[in-house]
Amino acid sequence: MKPATVHCLILGCFYLAFCCGYTSCKFLKSEHHPHIWKKLILVHHWPVTVCKMNENDCKEPPQYWTIHGLWPEKVEECNRTWHFNVNEIKDLLPDMRQYWPDILHSSLNRTQFWKHEWEKHGTCAATVESLNSQKKYFGKTLDLYQKLDLNSCLLKVGIKPSSSYYQMTAIKEALTSVYGVTPKVQCLPPEQGEEVQTIGQIEFCFTKELELRNCTHAEAESYILQNDWSSGPEELSICNDTLTYYPSQV
Ligand SMILES: *[C@@H]1O[C@H](CO)[C@@H](O)[C@H](O)[C@H]1NC(C)=O
Ligand SMILES: *[C@@H]1O[C@H](CO)[C@@H](O)[C@H](O)[C@H]1NC(C)=O
Ligand SMILES: *[C@@H]1O[C@H](CO)[C@@H](O)[C@H](O)[C@H]1NC(C)=O
Ligand SMILES: *[C@@H]1O[C@H](CO)[C@@H](O)[C@H](O)[C@H]1NC(C)=O
Repeated sequence: MKPATVHCLILGCFYLAFCCGYTSCKFLKSEHHPHIWKKLILVHHWPVTVCKMNENDCKEPPQYWTIHGLWPEKVEECNRTWHFNVNEIKDLLPDMRQYWPDILHSSLNRTQFWKHEWEKHGTCAATVESLNSQKKYFGKTLDLYQKLDLNSCLLKVGIKPSSSYYQMTAIKEALTSVYGVTPKVQCLPPEQGEEVQTIGQIEFCFTKELELRNCTHAEAESYILQNDWSSGPEELSICNDTLTYYPSQV
C-alpha cells in the first residue's frame, strides 16, 4: 500500500475507534437556549462547479476541493456584536488562502468570505470551548480539513475529475468505505435537456466533540444550508443516485 492509502485507512479506523470509545459528555445542555446545536458540518466545495454556477464571477478555479465552511446545524448569526478581525488569524493566512479561498470573488477583498463565514456560522460554533475564538474556529476548521484529506483520499480510491461520468452510488460507497461514516453529497441538477448532475459539495458531519459522525439526509436541513454564499441562479441539492459529472474545467 502507498502511504496515502495507509493514511486514509488509518484515519477511518482512528475515527471509528474514537467514536466507539466515546461514552458521555454533557456540557452545554441548555435546551432552551436559542443558539443550541448538536452537529457541525464541514463543507468542502469543488471550485470548478462553483465557477460553473457563477460564470461571471471567477476564473482559474483551484483543482482541489477547498473549504466552504464549518457550520453548526440549524443556527446562524449567534452574536452580531462579535465582529470578524483578520488580525486574529494572521498566523493562519497562508493556509487560509490556499485551502479556504473565496472562489467567487478572488480578485476582490478576499477576507469578505471569511468575515461572512465567521459572522454567520463561527459565532454559533463559538459556544463550544474548542471553537470559542476566531483563531480556534478557523484553525480547527483547517485542521479537520487537513486530517480528512479528502483530495488524496478521493484520488486513492480512483475518483478524479474526468470527462466520463461516475455513478453517484460508487462515489458515496467509496467515501463511506474510507471514512466509516456517510457524508452528504450535493450536486448541481442536470441542465435542461441533459441527464447528468454535477458534483458540487461534500459535507462531513461532526459531533460537538469534533468526532466524525454520520450525516443524516433531512431535506429541510440541506435546503437552508445550501444557500450560504454563492448567489448564482443555480442551486445545489442532495445528489440523486444517477450519473454524475466531476468536471476538471468550467
Ligand atoms: C458576543 O460577543 C461579544 C464580543 O466578543 C462578547 O463580549 C459577548 O460576551 C458575546 N455574547 C454572547 C452572548 O456570547
Ligand atoms: C478588507 O475587508 C476587511 C474586513 O472587512 C477590512 O477590514 C479591510 O479594510 C478590507 N481591505 C480592503 C483593501 O478593502
Ligand atoms: C434529484 O431528483 C429530483 C426529482 O426528480 C429533482 O427535483 C432534483 O433536482 C434532482 N437533484 C439533482 C441534484 O439532480
Ligand atoms: C454510521 O452509520 C453506519 C450505518 O449506516 C454505521 O454502521 C456506523 O457505525 C455509523 N458510524 C458512526 C460513527 O456513527
